[in-house]
Amino acid sequence: MYTEKVMDHFEHPRNVGEIENASGIGTVGNAKCGDIMRIYLDIDENQIIQDVKFKTFGCGAAVATSSMATELVKGKNIREALSVTNKAVMEALDGLPPVKVHCSLLAEEAIHAALWDYAQKNGITIEGLEKPKSDIHEEEEEIERY
Ligand code: FES
Repeated sequence: MYTEKVMDHFEHPRNVGEIENASGIGTVGNAKCGDIMRIYLDIDENQIIQDVKFKTFGCGAAVATSSMATELVKGKNIREALSVTNKAVMEALDGLPPVKVHCSLLAEEAIHAALWDYAQKNGITIEGLEKPKSDIHEEEEEIERY
């Protein structure tokens, strides 16, 4: 049921790990299954993504889509990275079973959250980037508040 590319990225995920002093870090959770993803971006002064790493407590499809997503954003500028959608990631993997499509959202959302973090730290606005709704820390804060 999984394509060869999905199996390859699941068994040999690219860019697993973390980046010390990352330019931006994004952590998101998937409301449907409770899985969690964190993305680290290293962005240079020309707004090019020099390096990207991820960590996940997620299923195989989340690992494969995150691995592919990190490959797709590496070397891109921040606007190009913003346009890497979960659909593009799924296409690059030759598709996912319908029941696993939601897993591919984790990587897209975590990249957006990391870009948001980068923008906040640098006092800039990235056109088309909205404040991530599923930031885990924010949810925790909200839970504490109520
Ligand atoms: Fe949770 Fe796939 S089942 S990310």
